[in-house]
Amino acid sequence: MKTLTIDIRKAELRDAAAIADVHQEAWQGAYSGIIPHRALTGMINRRGPNWWANAIRRAASVLVIEIGGELAGYATIGKNRARELSQQGEIYELYLRPEYQGIGLGSRLFAEARKKLSASGLRGLVVWALEENAGALSFYEGAGGRDIAEGVEVFDQKALKKVAFVWD
Ligand SMILES: CC(C)(COP(=O)(O)OP(=O)(O)OC[C@H]1O[C@@H](n2cnc3c(N)ncnc32)[C@H](O)[C@@H]1OP(=O)(O)O)[C@@H](O)C(=O)NCCC(=O)NCCS
Repeated sequence: MKTLTIDIRKAELRDAAAIADVHQEAWQGAYSGIIPHRALTGMINRRGPNWWANAIRRAASVLVIEIGGELAGYATIGKNRARELSQQGEIYELYLRPEYQGIGLGSRLFAEARKKLSASGLRGLVVWALEENAGALSFYEGAGGRDIAEGVEVFDQKALKKVAFVWD
């Protein structure tokens, strides 16, 4: 039997193309039928390998999770952007390739992202998820997040509700 190792680490420049690929697969899987097709395709196309290479170069905090040497997902983390919320840290994005969802990798990446934020001195954490993304809502509820605020995001004139989960 082959043993698969799971590794979570900061993204490096060589990961840019694989992250772009995960981003495309995960966003299509999560948002097709929720975000209008044209807006979704536009967002995916903007985030190609060059976009990710720049994000990694600019020291944006991008974490990746690898399983058996394959990049299975990524998270981006930093300061909370919503002034009305007192939590200092934020997970901007947390996405896994569809074939790696539902086997505990998201929970591990989430825990590591939270640890990194707190190690960098940021107290408390916010994550936003689209209300129609039922899987994400269950995931953050299951991880102990409190559903505390709502907002709206507009995609090609379609307004979608988003929900903020917080951890103190
Ligand atoms: C949301 C996501 C990060 C969760 O990671 P994951 O590895 O699939 O989740 P885990 O296997 O660690 O599951 C942990 C818990 O979350 C819940 N959960 C996760 N995905 C779920 C889903 N699609 N539907 C319902 N519950 C779900 C379960 O309650 C699970 O608890 P259990 O272990 O008792 O069954 C991942 O599924 C993903 O990338 N989804 C698509 C992209 C996305 O929606 N990202 C979040 C955007 S804000």
